[in-house]
Amino acid sequence: MPQRHPALPADADAITEEAVYRDRRRLLAAFGLLPTLGLAGCSEAAPPASKAVVTPAQAKSGFRTAEEQTRELDATTYNNFYEFGTNKDDPANAPKTLRTKPWSVAVGGHCARPGTLALEDLLKGLPPQERIYRMRCVEGWSMVIPWLGVPLADVLKRFEPTSKAKYVAFTSLADPRQMPGVRVPTLDWPYREGLRIDEAMHPLTLLATGMYGKALPQQNGAPLRLVVPWKYGFKGIKSIVAITFVERMPKTSWNMSQPSEYGFYSNVNPAVDHPRWSQKSERRIAGSASKLFAERIPTRPFNGYAEQVASLYAGMDLKKWF
Ligand code: MTE
Repeated sequence: MPQRHPALPADADAITEEAVYRDRRRLLAAFGLLPTLGLAGCSEAAPPASKAVVTPAQAKSGFRTAEEQTRELDATTYNNFYEFGTNKDDPANAPKTLRTKPWSVAVGGHCARPGTLALEDLLKGLPPQERIYRMRCVEGWSMVIPWLGVPLADVLKRFEPTSKAKYVAFTSLADPRQMPGVRVPTLDWPYREGLRIDEAMHPLTLLATGMYGKALPQQNGAPLRLVVPWKYGFKGIKSIVAITFVERMPKTSWNMSQPSEYGFYSNVNPAVDHPRWSQKSERRIAGSASKLFAERIPTRPFNGYAEQVASLYAGMDLKKWF
């Protein structure tokens, strides 16, 4: 991910976090500066909670694209994993220092059954499924990858999230002994991501453990990563060690780093350009296409998964909630 261009000012106010906004409204109301009715009817304070229902057939239609796949060699040598360096080939070339066995994940926050589980126990009884998804990076390239994994919803339900669980926050490992990139402050470690609870529970959202029929290699986020095919690739947090049910929109790494460029939602959207480049098209790295000179194809809303997910965002201004 490109760092902020020095010519561009940090626009820390570009995003008014839901919590901050609500607090401000509450304060204004306390001083009698807001009509009470306005508060109740305020649709700006938070995006509407979706009541979207995705039919099993609709969901399934997104599970396996027939588009030409990316070669395994390309998907495993052209990576973003800043914990192992910032060049595309750094993660693949890094010594294999990540210890993925044993691996445990702490699940907590607003749920009835919090706990820290060994990865095997977290996934017990959930056979891995193959999903062939498009992956669109915010930088303007894309791939088609056969993943192995389990629906995130199946894992989350085991912890019985309560009604206060409005969002799910994810955290990556950040161990400088295993991850040399963490010794450098390229991001505010650990890497963090988040989803709204209905996004997390969506049938397309995958907790991946493998790709190309094998376990995930270190550079692709071993042993456990998120795959959310309708969002820009940076939402796909790697090497997850914690999952937390939270009430407020959680902080996310790229939004913290460059708030005017990377939003919380980050749904693939050709109509909303990145401040420094167009999002209308993408370099599709698939088949024998060279990584640097791959053909450009048009980018589709929600990365081509609009039929399955657009209803989650009904009534939301997608330019504002980018
Ligand atoms: N997760 C962690 N922990 N650290 C990272 O630097 N990079 C993100 C995402 N997950 C990243 C991460 C970005 S920017 C992208 S595009 C995808 O991982 C890249 O996944 P890939 O290398 O498997 O293609």
